[in-house]
This record gives sequence, C-alpha cells and structure tokens, in this order.
Amino acid sequence: MQLTVNGTPRTYDGDPSQPLLWYLRDELDLTGTKFGCGISACGACTVHVDGNAIQSCVTPMRALEGKAVTTIEGLSTKGDHPVQKAWAAADVPQCGYCQSGQMMAAAALLEQHPNPTEADIDRAMSLILCRCGTYTRIRDAIVAASKAGR
Ligand code: FES
Ligand code: FES
Repeated sequence: MQLTVNGTPRTYDGDPSQPLLWYLRDELDLTGTKFGCGISACGACTVHVDGNAIQSCVTPMRALEGKAVTTIEGLSTKGDHPVQKAWAAADVPQCGYCQSGQMMAAAALLEQHPNPTEADIDRAMSLILCRCGTYTRIRDAIVAASKAGR
C-alpha cells in the first residue's frame, strides 16, 4: 500500500493490522510520537491523517492507503509552526512526554478553527492527557497561536 509520511511517499507491505504508531516509531524512527497507553485513552500518540488529529496507537496500517500522515517532525521544516512558537514562548512543557500529542491536536484544531471558542478548545484537547498538569499553559499557547495567525 502507498501512503505519505511528512510529505515523503512510502510503500508499506507489512502486517495490515499493525498500528501506525509502531510503523512510525520502529520502522521510520520518528520517535517524536509517543506511546502512552495503547488503548486510545491518553492522546500521547496523536498525529495527523489528512489533516485530522487521530490516535496512532489504535489506527491500523490498513486504514492508511493513499493517506497523508504528518507527525510532529513534519509539522514544520524549521520548528516554526505557530503552535510550536507559541509553545516555546509560553514555556508549556514540563516533562514533555505528552507534548507532541498536545501540539498536533492544537495544530489540527487551529487549521479547522482559526479562532477557536472555549468549547472548540475543550472538544479538541480534552482527550490529550498531561500528567504534569500543563493544561493552563496549553490553553494560553493555543490562544496565542490563534492570535498570531490572524
Ligand atoms: S498511546 Fe495512543 S491514546 Fe495513549
Ligand atoms: S508535560 Fe509531562 S505529561 Fe505533559
């Protein structure tokens, strides 16, 4: 099957039931996407498929024929996506483990809702857990990234 990952065409002929997360981490060495729970309960593994935020630990490779996958490594070429700049300015991460998932969810949110309401932010971000409790800084960074994009 054919797909693209961060803009690069890829051919996959492995187990169609393999989760995307393991393909990214073990076969492509894209380890910015994290394994947290493996059961769609934490959001650490969030990436984009055709621009939508999805949980890669529960997305089988068979679902990705012809799809465009973007990981945190592909969000921008120089680490200067508005979300990344806002995250750095607000000093959001603590341990950092959840943060690639948080940024990917935020980037998809802002792509679909450039001026998100509180409810939009809640809906997009509520499934991405942070054990360090950085939620307030995450919200501030999303609002800042939204304003920067206006
Ligand atoms: S590792 Fe995928 S949702 Fe937790
Ligand atoms: S920054 Fe540590 S889990 Fe979120």
